[in-house]
Amino acid sequence: MKMDVLLGLQWGDEGKGKIVDVLAPQYEVVARFQGGPNAGHTLEFDGIKHVLHQIPSGIFRSQILNIIGNGVVLDPIILKKEIEGLGKFSIDYKKNLVVSKKATIIIPTHKLLDAAYEQSKGDKKIGSTLKGIGPTYQDKIGRSALRIGDILSPDFREKYDTLLAKHKTTLSFYDFSLDALPEMEKQFFDAVEFIKTLNLIDSEYVVNEALAAKKKILAEGAQGSLLDIDFGSYPYVTSSNTMTAGACTGLGVAPSRIGEVFGIFKAYCTRVGSGPFPTELFDETGEAMRKEGNEFGSTTGRPRRCGWLDLPALKYSIMINGVTQLFMMKADVLNIFEEILVCTHYELPNGEKIDRLSFEIAEIDAKPVYRKMKGWNCSLKEVSSYDQFPEELKGYVTFLEEELQVPIKLVSVGPDRTQTILR
Ligand code: GDP
Ligand code: IMO
Ligand code: MG
Repeated sequence: MKMDVLLGLQWGDEGKGKIVDVLAPQYEVVARFQGGPNAGHTLEFDGIKHVLHQIPSGIFRSQILNIIGNGVVLDPIILKKEIEGLGKFSIDYKKNLVVSKKATIIIPTHKLLDAAYEQSKGDKKIGSTLKGIGPTYQDKIGRSALRIGDILSPDFREKYDTLLAKHKTTLSFYDFSLDALPEMEKQFFDAVEFIKTLNLIDSEYVVNEALAAKKKILAEGAQGSLLDIDFGSYPYVTSSNTMTAGACTGLGVAPSRIGEVFGIFKAYCTRVGSGPFPTELFDETGEAMRKEGNEFGSTTGRPRRCGWLDLPALKYSIMINGVTQLFMMKADVLNIFEEILVCTHYELPNGEKIDRLSFEIAEIDAKPVYRKMKGWNCSLKEVSSYDQFPEELKGYVTFLEEELQVPIKLVSVGPDRTQTILR
């Protein structure tokens, strides 16, 4: 049995949470493999809207084992709040949620360091979610982080104090107040006690034993490929490998065990935070997309930058992830436009046209070259199958498939579970 992977191909917020929830009935295990509470995965069903940050999006399906894998950086305070926030759903956490002992812990000073680093960057700031992601991965790679397994050790406090002292030294170089720390620490140790009551496991064994037992596993990505630490728009990226390879290291699954790779993209582009965005719209069209798509961050509430679909970027993401099926999200948001633009190439200042992604092109003033297409300009509310799509939308889908050379197997036409059209 192989493990399927679902991930975002743009700058995050493509609609991963919705689709994991839609696909979950076909699986027995859903596992998060990287990122942390910087993620905000929205699910809508039965008139309820819910945003998950660290808990995998299979949690609302009672047959699913949800794994927080070793590649995740976990904030105990946020996990406790998330679980408490799901109180009304009568979910059996002991049975349906497990946490890798090798997941890395976000401690309060990681969040202060995140804020201090951002503050010191001035107008070069990343636009971090300030959840402590970068500093925690730094400590992981620097071999000084705490892991979930450490909370079970009698000398956890000692280990914590060693890391705290290191962080305080670093923070002393910044003009940054530590006034908030005592209250954050109180909440942290309270949450750590709560985490001890959860099922803490060696998830690499659980995942591989599940595969050996022919159980179906879906790995749920967070963020998006253009935020990948290696291949994204560095340095305006997150601090983990958001790509398929990250599912191998973040769960302990061999590359030969990867099955389908579901790549999710919006029918246009958004980005929250700083960094290059070649097709960004600064005019009323971009404003209309933001309004129609309700493009405001699920984690921070920040307005998302909006623009037309960028094919060179999408091709790049498909290449580095080995995408086998594409899922196009938020097609309904384009209902409002009489004309839809798709970037097929970039034009360099010397007139040369290229279709390779290079984030430097944003800096050297390369311009997107667009293909204009007639919009469908009507509601998709009544649509329940692909053949009911307006011809222009079908044309959009086939045009993209020809360009991308990967089948688009799903089109999402609204935020609800049911507003999902399979092909
Ligand atoms: P994720 O981080 O990839 O899980 O995506 P987010 O949840 O951060 O952002 C996606 C947003 O779009 C959420 O508010 C979803 O409810 C919403 N959404 C998902 N699919 C669709 C769709 O097809 N149409 C519309 N209009 N909204 C959608
Ligand atoms: P989901 O899983 C969109 C962005 C931040 C910032 C950069 C670095 O919901 O798609 P970080 O806090 O990781 O240090 O921020 O990455 N970012 C996201 N943007 N969706 C996300 O997650 C994101 N997680 C981080 O806005 O630009
Ligand atoms: Mg999100």
